[in-house]
Amino acid sequence: MNKDNTARGSFGSQLGVVLASAGSAVGLGNIWRLPTEVGKGGGAAFILIYLCFIFFLAMPVMVSEFVIGRSSHSNAIGAYQKLAPGKPWVLTGIMGVLGGFLVLSYYSVVAGWTLHYTTQSVLGHLHVQGDTDFTQAFNTFVSAPLQPIAYLAAFLLLTHLVVARGIQHGIERYSKLMMPMLLAIIVILVGFSLTMPGASEGIRFLLKPDLSEVTTDTILGAMGQAFFSLSVGIGCLVTYSSYFSQETRLVKSATNVCIIDTAVAILSGFIIFPTVFSVGIAPDAGPGLVFITLPNVFAMMFGEIPLVGYIFALLFYVLLLLAALTSSISMHEICTAFISEHFRKSRHTAAAIVTAICLLLGSFCSLSFGPWQEIKVFGLGIFDLFDVAVTKFLMPLGGLLMTLFVGHYLDKRFVEQQLTNDGHIPVRFMRPLLLLIRWVVPAGIVIIFLNELIPLIIK
Ligand code: PHE
Repeated sequence: MNKDNTARGSFGSQLGVVLASAGSAVGLGNIWRLPTEVGKGGGAAFILIYLCFIFFLAMPVMVSEFVIGRSSHSNAIGAYQKLAPGKPWVLTGIMGVLGGFLVLSYYSVVAGWTLHYTTQSVLGHLHVQGDTDFTQAFNTFVSAPLQPIAYLAAFLLLTHLVVARGIQHGIERYSKLMMPMLLAIIVILVGFSLTMPGASEGIRFLLKPDLSEVTTDTILGAMGQAFFSLSVGIGCLVTYSSYFSQETRLVKSATNVCIIDTAVAILSGFIIFPTVFSVGIAPDAGPGLVFITLPNVFAMMFGEIPLVGYIFALLFYVLLLLAALTSSISMHEICTAFISEHFRKSRHTAAAIVTAICLLLGSFCSLSFGPWQEIKVFGLGIFDLFDVAVTKFLMPLGGLLMTLFVGHYLDKRFVEQQLTNDGHIPVRFMRPLLLLIRWVVPAGIVIIFLNELIPLIIK
């Protein structure tokens, strides 16, 4: 019988803590969403602003989540029931679990496309330069009713198999296996891409900030990206940190996760932009960058040096798939932990319920690219509706409530005890960190939130 059914699971090592949390953070957000935003938002200027938000806004939210999760040793909803019994703070947890279901459903659709492109690259179908119109191929694939749903189901099944095995034997073990593979693939691909002829133009695009390109949209986009990329605001890290031990250093772990996530995001830029510029294609915006522009690039590379083109394409999609999987298991775990603890179900049953619900919701998202294209709610297709609900509402609102909870509701001494492990470890930047959690982050989020919300309502 799975040990995690009888007692709450826990991570077995500090390395497991960091790799699992970094696995949650590093995902399609880093390799797909960030380069797309950078392409739209003026290269290096966007990256500079994004970095400020990662360390001054999203990281304090991560530390707050760690305090809530580790001190309560409970799921995303149970945590508030323990720390603030009978108080409306539990709504924060309810929003988190709801967000977990929504984000896993639509994220798995894109992850399913990635699985399809991985199999295509294995079969060598991404190389038929000239004969293949990659735009049309992509549009035909995503709008077909059944095939993308089959890939969605396959991806959810992979996620399910890891989560159902529990914390140490599932999540920690596979994070320890997949994260080093992912990092190794990134280093190889950066090596490949930097040696391509004409790569320097892409490097310049990434390193030379052009501040004249910065608009309010760039700033808001960078904030949203920072939240999404670090997985903060929907209780994912509350859930993971509920499996941390009393010895885990919360601030240090959060810092390490931020550094790994940022490094991967920037290195992904160094894979994509030098490659794209070297073949003379504009850094396209939208999902097309990874599923349309890059196949064109791979086909051109393949035309010149077939082996390099083949390996590059294959490694790239395997990288994307691993990144998506380490993130999707963390989304799944928010919901599985809640169902299993709240309704007293075994981990296997709870995981099966989550997988089934997300398969259903994910199928709706997938169909919104094809036969259900016409169905609109608030003017948005189902996929976009889920994305907007999570990234524009649930995450910022969750981040706001969590920092208010830790910064103003919980006892100050209790929070300091958590951060210093009962006074056993020094925390160098305790005061500035608490200042960020109490005032700067809530104020920052209110500003983004209003700026995002008002145009949506006016529209
Ligand atoms: N951080 C993940 C990424 O960059 C996405 C994610 C969001 C994961 C919310 C968990 C929770 O792709």
